[in-house]
Amino acid sequence: MDINVINDHKELENLRIKYLGKKGLIAHQINLLKHLPLVERKRFGKIINNVKHYIYTKINNKKIFLDDLLINKNISLNNLDLSLPGRRSNIGSMHPITSTIYYIERFFNSLGFDILSGGFELEDQYHNFDALNIPIYHPARNVQDTFWFDSNFLLRTQTSNMQIHEIKKNKFPIRMIISGKVYRKDSDKTHSPMFHQVEGLVIDKNVNFSNLKWVISNFLNDFFKKNIEIRFRSSYFPFTVLSCEVDIKSSDGSWLEVLGCGIVHPNILKRFNINSKLYSGFAFGIGVERIIMLYYGIKDLRCFFKNDIKFLSQFKKNRYF
Ligand code: DAH
Repeated sequence: MDINVINDHKELENLRIKYLGKKGLIAHQINLLKHLPLVERKRFGKIINNVKHYIYTKINNKKIFLDDLLINKNISLNNLDLSLPGRRSNIGSMHPITSTIYYIERFFNSLGFDILSGGFELEDQYHNFDALNIPIYHPARNVQDTFWFDSNFLLRTQTSNMQIHEIKKNKFPIRMIISGKVYRKDSDKTHSPMFHQVEGLVIDKNVNFSNLKWVISNFLNDFFKKNIEIRFRSSYFPFTVLSCEVDIKSSDGSWLEVLGCGIVHPNILKRFNINSKLYSGFAFGIGVERIIMLYYGIKDLRCFFKNDIKFLSQFKKNRYF
């Protein structure tokens, strides 16, 4: 059959098999070569190879031609508009909680703090409460509605547990930041059963309240990127003495609480045989969701955990990177 009259893939394939197939005409000719004397065999072998190459090229070109024909037919049948711009694939971005934690870590790292990994979400009551001066009868235990596994193990309610793990290593001075998930039985617009905290701890010789104040003021001025008004309001935490909550002034003049901090309670140092006359320290705890909400004016904390692309894509142009 003449290759020029072929107009579909099936006919072309038949033609290919007829000439180039295992039992095709070319294979047959090659088979016959063995009956010829050596010199003739070489001469005819060359000719057969040239013919084979010629047929192969012809069939291949025809195939390309038929492929194009098929594509064009499909395009006109399906009403494809080739001039339409393609769809861009969506590129993900870092979750605002992660990027904020990175930002906080980087800031404190620049002040010489070590960044430790978050560790110990499953905790015992000794590290989460007792060693932090919160014994069993203490009312602070009720404030932090705890998820208990049994009478001893729980999901940590605060990253302050990491203060104890760090102090126990007995290597001083300590200047550390740790961040991670914490858990409390609580769920509404401003509370979630899981949220994030960043804990800071410094223990060294001659550490005092003015050091704490300097560090926190600098952090808040850096984070909120303007000379915001800051207020240290006397408060109570069992593990600090001289405890403060820190507020910032919002644009409408009201004060908004941003974090808790204080001077490490001497009882904690004594429990680990640290000479509290020589060593002193300060600690602070930052609610990560809370400061992001204040910064962006987000009203509902649950937005962070819904995986709503519309919400998350607003943070693509991340201010920290
Ligand atoms: N752990 C406290 C909480 O979850 C926050 C806190 C307050 C941490 C004062 C501190 C601190 O280290 O000094 O409410």
